[in-house]
Amino acid sequence: VCAERIDIGDDVLIAWGCTIVDHDSHPVAWSHRQHDVVAYGNGKKDWSKVKIRPVRIGNKSWIGFNATILEGVTVGEGAIIGAESVIAKDVPPFTIWGGNPARFIRELRDDER
Ligand SMILES: CC(C)(COP(=O)(O)OP(=O)(O)OC[C@H]1O[C@@H](n2cnc3c(N)ncnc32)[C@H](O)[C@@H]1OP(=O)(O)O)[C@@H](O)C(=O)NCCC(=O)NCCS
Repeated sequence: VCAERIDIGDDVLIAWGCTIVDHDSHPVAWSHRQHDVVAYGNGKKDWSKVKIRPVRIGNKSWIGFNATILEGVTVGEGAIIGAESVIAKDVPPFTIWGGNPARFIRELRDDER
């Protein structure tokens, strides 16, 4: 779900049910989001207070089923995201992460890269 920018590299596997967003949809402050639904319906939603940060999915990465990648995240080259994970922080290249919040599982060995 892209407001501004989501880059997906080459040879990436994205399994079923994944959600990748480059924005939070609504501002954190209630006073700034209280009219969002009506405004959106009228085509007048104010996006200026919504956090929007680009997402980058690196080459050769693999995103497991039902994973969620949140705004601002960079998934490094060849990284693996376990099924059902929620990724809110950058994932270094050639590492495996899983869970909610996602934790570091391990680094890929040379013969797995
Ligand atoms: C990410 C994945 C590939 C890791 O496989 P692996 O390297 O063989 O990992 P292991 O099964 O040895 O598990 C290692 C640790 O990670 C944990 N783990 C594995 N997958 C996890 C996940 N999705 N979420 C949270 N933790 C996970 C295990 O519980 C284990 O924890 P421990 O060290 O505390 O015992 C795999 O677990 C996975 O998520 N597979 C789903 C793939 C998929 O989505 N396929 C759809 C078609 S593309």
